[in-house]
Amino acid sequence: MKAVRVHAFDSPPVLEDLPEPALRPARTLVRMEAATVGHIDRTVWRGSFLKHPPFPYTPGVEAAGVVVASHVHPEGRRVWLRGSGLGTLFDGTWCEVIDAPDEALGVLPDGVPSMIGSAFFSPSTSAWVALHDVARLSAGESVLLTGATGAVGSLAVQLALDAGAEVTALVADAAQAARMPSGAKVLVPGSDLASSLDSVSVDLLVDTVGGPVLAAALPRVRSGGRAVLVGYTAGNTLTLDIAHFLQRDVSLLPLNMFRREAAGHAAAPELLARLADGRLKLDVQPFALEDAAKAMNWIGQRGHRGRAVLVAGR
Ligand SMILES: NC(=O)c1ccc[n+]([C@@H]2O[C@H](COP(=O)([O-])OP(=O)(O)OC[C@H]3O[C@@H](n4cnc5c(N)ncnc54)[C@H](OP(=O)(O)O)[C@@H]3O)[C@@H](O)[C@H]2O)c1
Repeated sequence: MKAVRVHAFDSPPVLEDLPEPALRPARTLVRMEAATVGHIDRTVWRGSFLKHPPFPYTPGVEAAGVVVASHVHPEGRRVWLRGSGLGTLFDGTWCEVIDAPDEALGVLPDGVPSMIGSAFFSPSTSAWVALHDVARLSAGESVLLTGATGAVGSLAVQLALDAGAEVTALVADAAQAARMPSGAKVLVPGSDLASSLDSVSVDLLVDTVGGPVLAAALPRVRSGGRAVLVGYTAGNTLTLDIAHFLQRDVSLLPLNMFRREAAGHAAAPELLARLADGRLKLDVQPFALEDAAKAMNWIGQRGHRGRAVLVAGR
């Protein structure tokens, strides 16, 4: 079978021929139809994640496909895959036949295409858990979302609106503003981000960007409000004036979806139902398996839309 292999941190992934895996206890073999290339895969590949599979390894923490052999899952079942060490502790999903722990699989409803089934888990469960489990969002509250055009951000905008929140979405330009759902207030900042946000005052900030964007957005949270920190593509440091911070009494709440994987799995069926009937939308961009390096490069570019997905046989 074909598999993408990484031989050293930061070295270009290469497509290789490997023997097909044999079925082992507590594992399921899945014929891959679509496998997502996400920021976490880049972080593991760069050696910046806490753990990584032994070299050489097959990357990929998410996928969708069809069960070919298993002790617990029926053969032919459509499934999505995520977690339990897939692509972080041992070989992942960027290959034609995935050898996955039984518990990494979930049932993919017929109405959800494989590319969406492969790409939905991280952004939609992160957005859901950030809003509902971490921030405990209530209807009528106001929410500021940074990185609102990103995969997590765009789903958080849709889910927050659906939960009855008043949503302000921060986007880079007018073209991106046009892509936001009609119920959201859209803010395109000028050259000075902090002053562009002057008129904003919210109960909750969900920040997927970090760095200077977080620094500018945090003061827009009302006293007693909260801020959920999701990502740090724009920078991974934040300077706090401790006296101000204590006086303003804003809770800084980290989102760690590896620790909250169970909550993600619990939310997945509801999120898949919404994706199946069109209440939720997620953009995906297909790449061939041999173009894994291109896909990693694409997701690192500003302005890319949606999630990169490797498609088998493309
Ligand atoms: N904490 C967790 O458990 C968890 C879970 C899932 C994801 N994440 C992290 O969350 C982040 C977002 O993920 P994603 O899948 O939504 O990524 P994405 O689809 O690549 O979106 C990134 C978003 O950030 C914006 N952005 C990037 N750099 C920026 C900058 N310098 N200034 C302003 N905006 C900037 C992009 O805006 P443009 O469109 O204008 O480029 C886009 O809206 C990633 O860092 C990811 O690793 C964390």
